[in-house]
Amino acid sequence: MAYLNIALPKGRLGEKAYTMLKAAGYGCPAIEESGRKLIFENEALGVRYFWAKPSDVAIYVERGAADIGVTGKDILLEYRPDVYELLDLDIGKCKMCVAAKESFRDDKTRTLTVATKFTNIAKNYFAARGRDIDIVHLNGSIEIAPIIRLSDVIVDIVETGTTLKENNLVVFDEVLDISARLIANKASYKFHHAQMEELCAKLRQKQ
Ligand code: PRP
Repeated sequence: MAYLNIALPKGRLGEKAYTMLKAAGYGCPAIEESGRKLIFENEALGVRYFWAKPSDVAIYVERGAADIGVTGKDILLEYRPDVYELLDLDIGKCKMCVAAKESFRDDKTRTLTVATKFTNIAKNYFAARGRDIDIVHLNGSIEIAPIIRLSDVIVDIVETGTTLKENNLVVFDEVLDISARLIANKASYKFHHAQMEELCAKLRQKQ
């Protein structure tokens, strides 16, 4: 039997997703040992797990290096990978927001400068509102931008709100709700159809 390759995002979200998969009967004892290894197999079950960088999970799945993976809705909307979205896992819940300094007031006669990692999501959001923007693409620590006047606002993920609060920023609007999704490679979905449907059914039972 061919292995079912599962790409998980390294970090807290991936660990939560693995716990769900384990509860559904897809555990892999080797993954639970600490260390720097990135690939683990459970030969008896025919599953192989990878720890991937969170923003790369969809790339592995789109290219078929992984049959299935766990990634955020934010990544799916930003990069539009050609994959199937099988299930909302109801974990990793957060919101994409527009935030700025409390004193910020939008002057519609000026182009709005927006710092973000999520260029496409930000462009679509402001285009739908007919607002002219100039995007500053950053790779992280986005909250710094309005403070040092690199941008007027940011479009970023808010989970607990602590990062905004500690940097004296406030939410001006909510762009979208985000949660983790189980995704599948399109060709693998046909090949492993029964196996993937069984996995989804078991995960749904545990939700
Ligand atoms: C994310 C996001 C915010 C923070 C929000 O950053 O970009 O900075 O988490 O979480 P909070 O509302 O619970 O404070 P991440 O840790 O992914 O790092 P980044 O700066 O590289 O984006």
